[in-house]
Amino acid sequence: MKIHLLLAIIGTYVAIVVSQTQEGFISLDCGLPVEESPYVNEFNGLTFTSDSTFIQTGKSGRVNKNLNDVLSKQYLTLRYFPEGKRNCYSLDVKPDTKYLIAVSSVYGNYDGLNLDPSFDIYIGRNKWISTPRSNSLDICLVKTGTTSPIISAIEIQPLRDDTYVTQSGSLRLSFRVYLNNSAGFIRYPDDVRDRIWDPFFGSSYTQITTDLNINNSNAYEVPKTALQSAATPRNASGPLVITWNPKPSNAQVYLYMHFAEIQTLEANETREFDVILKGNFNHSVPMQCDSGGCRLELVRTPKSTLPPLINALEAYTIIEFPKLETSPSDVDAIKNIKVTYRLSKISWQGVNEIHVSLKIGR
Ligand SMILES: *[C@@H]1O[C@H](CO)[C@@H](O)[C@H](O)[C@H]1NC(C)=O
Ligand SMILES: *[C@@H]1O[C@H](CO)[C@@H](O)[C@H](O)[C@H]1NC(C)=O
Ligand SMILES: *[C@@H]1O[C@H](CO)[C@@H](O)[C@H](O)[C@H]1NC(C)=O
Ligand SMILES: *[C@@H]1O[C@H](CO)[C@@H](O)[C@H](O)[C@H]1NC(C)=O
Ligand SMILES: *[C@@H]1O[C@H](CO)[C@@H](O)[C@H](O)[C@H]1NC(C)=O
Repeated sequence: MKIHLLLAIIGTYVAIVVSQTQEGFISLDCGLPVEESPYVNEFNGLTFTSDSTFIQTGKSGRVNKNLNDVLSKQYLTLRYFPEGKRNCYSLDVKPDTKYLIAVSSVYGNYDGLNLDPSFDIYIGRNKWISTPRSNSLDICLVKTGTTSPIISAIEIQPLRDDTYVTQSGSLRLSFRVYLNNSAGFIRYPDDVRDRIWDPFFGSSYTQITTDLNINNSNAYEVPKTALQSAATPRNASGPLVITWNPKPSNAQVYLYMHFAEIQTLEANETREFDVILKGNFNHSVPMQCDSGGCRLELVRTPKSTLPPLINALEAYTIIEFPKLETSPSDVDAIKNIKVTYRLSKISWQGVNEIHVSLKIGR
């Protein structure tokens, strides 16, 4: 699904590289020959290096060359692990720093067998947010059948401490969208944290956009290009409704909504609405939705002269990392990650595919 978007975006991002803004980024192109490392990725202007100094096992592969023009460069080579049940990367990170982590596996028929591999990966293919308690972060691939686990890229960025605060646990992304009916996703350099914002729009919405420069100077640093558009309900007196199904259905859900007024309001106009998610929404506590899924409603108040509006939205679920009882001497807490995430289908179509299953109510 994202292939067309990648096609559309390759080459349009000029290599704008400001070294300070990349500080703390870990951008590894797995399987990249050392002599081709490092390089500046023209897709997003980030500097990628080979993964070879972080792992001693595995072999290098290259996706089928008919994908060369389709995929962003970091997905063209990969590392595969024909040997060993469990193969791990050990990355240097700052303790107690919050990180955004993305691991991508692009099969691309690298072995000519046309057989999608299946394996467990100890950090989800989706981005999630994690605070390592030590200075090392391990990402492991575990063989589950006869096929070799594969990995194409590891992309890690530090986050501000005052963002994505949870009472406990780490966050796994359900979806991150900006309300726009166009086709392109947004990431670095528009997003200084290289989060991926997918466009999303519903048939019961009306699009509003602005060319004006939006002030995005709050802690979340939502890209201005994402805030320049918003959705309002087509029925201006009705609510704006977004529904989705968290996995598992009883997961603790965190929701981050991003609002910016992008219309010029007259002195006698007001925009005011209530945010309803199983009752009044409280952003500092996670929610458990009903078995039928989550239903977010933005409901215009009686005194408002304008319909509700939303510019961007992120939903996460909490994942806890239980301690591995069998190795009490293991001081490195992050090694105790036991939550495995099975990739149901890995193929070249799977690049950064985020499982957005949004349905529009009303
Ligand atoms: C959002 O949509 C508008 C019009 O539909 C389009 O002009 C604009 O480029 C879109 N924004 C992005 C970031 O794609
Ligand atoms: C943007 O908003 C912040 C916080 O409200 C404010 O301190 C800052 O001056 C604003 N920046 C501009 C350019 O308006
Ligand atoms: C618009 O929303 C209002 C308030 O929910 C409702 O009473 C009305 O029937 C809706 N109109 C249409 C055309 O759906
Ligand atoms: C606001 O005032 C303008 C003229 O001053 C008027 O045309 C408009 O209808 C008013 N809007 C509302 C919601 O009262
Ligand atoms: C939200 O939850 C926090 C933590 O339980 C609580 O302290 C706060 O009062 C709640 N806020 C609202 C508006 O209910």
